[in-house]
Amino acid sequence: MPPPSMQAPRISVFGLGYVGSVTAACLAERGCRVIGCDVSEAKVEKINSGKAPIGEPGLDDLLGAQRLSGAVEATTDARDAVSRSEISIICVGTPSLPSGALDLSYVETVAGEIAEAVQEKNAPHVVIFRSTMLPGSTRGLYETAFSDVHSLVTAFFYPEFLRQGSALEDFRNPSLSAFGHLTDEESSEAWMEFLLEENTERMSVEEAELLKYACNAFHATKVAFANEIGRLAKGLDIDSKKVMTALCEDHRLNISPYYLRPGTPFGGSCLPKDVNALTQSARRQGVAVPVLDSLIASNRKHLESLLERVEARRNRTILIVGLAFKAGTDDLRGSAMLDLSAELLLRGYTVRIFDPDVSPEKLIGANRHVAESRLPSFDTLLVESVGEALSSDAGSTTIVVTKPCLDGSEFAQLLESRDGDHVIDVNYWSELEGLVPSYEGICW
Ligand SMILES: NC(=O)c1ccc[n+]([C@@H]2O[C@H](COP(=O)([O-])OP(=O)(O)OC[C@H]3O[C@@H](n4cnc5c(N)ncnc54)[C@H](O)[C@@H]3O)[C@@H](O)[C@H]2O)c1
Repeated sequence: MPPPSMQAPRISVFGLGYVGSVTAACLAERGCRVIGCDVSEAKVEKINSGKAPIGEPGLDDLLGAQRLSGAVEATTDARDAVSRSEISIICVGTPSLPSGALDLSYVETVAGEIAEAVQEKNAPHVVIFRSTMLPGSTRGLYETAFSDVHSLVTAFFYPEFLRQGSALEDFRNPSLSAFGHLTDEESSEAWMEFLLEENTERMSVEEAELLKYACNAFHATKVAFANEIGRLAKGLDIDSKKVMTALCEDHRLNISPYYLRPGTPFGGSCLPKDVNALTQSARRQGVAVPVLDSLIASNRKHLESLLERVEARRNRTILIVGLAFKAGTDDLRGSAMLDLSAELLLRGYTVRIFDPDVSPEKLIGANRHVAESRLPSFDTLLVESVGEALSSDAGSTTIVVTKPCLDGSEFAQLLESRDGDHVIDVNYWSELEGLVPSYEGICW
């Protein structure tokens, strides 16, 4: 790539719908020279007459002002748009096919047109995909559509998070900004100073592509969840607004990163019990709550995927490090690792368990009952240390870790002289990742 221009870049924006027309207007406002491109002559004409091609508060005024100053114009000619810009931003639609699958045909067409135009221009060009696309799409398009111009084209994925209705404000001050690289080529980012926010997260294109879907799926989950609580509340003559407002007041556990880390299935004495009670109560009321209903099934699937991962290693001895449902407690009620151990025993594996928080002599009441009902030979499965478990086993062991119960380097040392052991980390014990050669994360 050539050195970054000190002047604002000339940018072509492909697709002048809800995202593209806002992008064009806001980049012009930032000082870029923008040429919009759309197959719709009507939209191109609108922009050229200083009018918004879609309904969005404030856009008419902004486009009018930017058109007047000559900072923005539009065309239906893709070749012309590319020849008069250094950067192209793709904002065409990615609708659903009748099957629900993603229709990438508009993006493919535009990518092909840009590739041809770059070849003709024979000058370096940056292509930024903003259309929402599934992981792998940007790389796939780069490999296919741009195969003849790899030496000229640098491609990125830069998801758009604006909301219709407040799109200008969201563009100017985004809630999240993430920039996906195909390679480690951060140097080419110098071109992006007019685009990227100061707090932009850098990641791979696949991470950025998934991030966009994760955000939208999360938003959809929140809406569906709130509506289910609302329906339940109405049936019980309870004020759902008050309940949900109070829920949102808790910024430690509710509206926070807590409970949002991939890892252990949920467990303990409360979550499974209370989700079950709530869904039972909804059934009695005749209120459909498919989101709430799916939680126990989803949690079960997560545990099954861990079981499959353990079995895939074909080691017959399994060491569970951390049995209680979470660190810092000896509570075994609803413990996913207790379920995993029981299932492995049923399947004929040799199971050993190390958890310094769980000692047989202190285990009484419901806790002991839960342990013994799931693992009849419970006391004999427990070991005093990871070293003890490994020294009694000459063969290879798969070690499932859910909490850092010992020093990471000590753990790595214990495994050093052994062959065929495998560590599956369920709760991201970050230290282990670099220390243990045969390390695998449950979700990473
Ligand atoms: N609408 C939103 O709020 C929003 C927010 C974030 C991300 N997105 C994503 O951004 C993308 C665009 O969404 P949108 O709502 O702006 O779509 P849209 O349907 O409003 O606009 C798409 C535009 O692309 C044009 N187009 C189609 N083929 C073209 C071609 N070959 N050359 C030039 N233009 C072409 C269409 O004529 C249309 O004007 C989608 O992937 C969407 O999922 C949308």
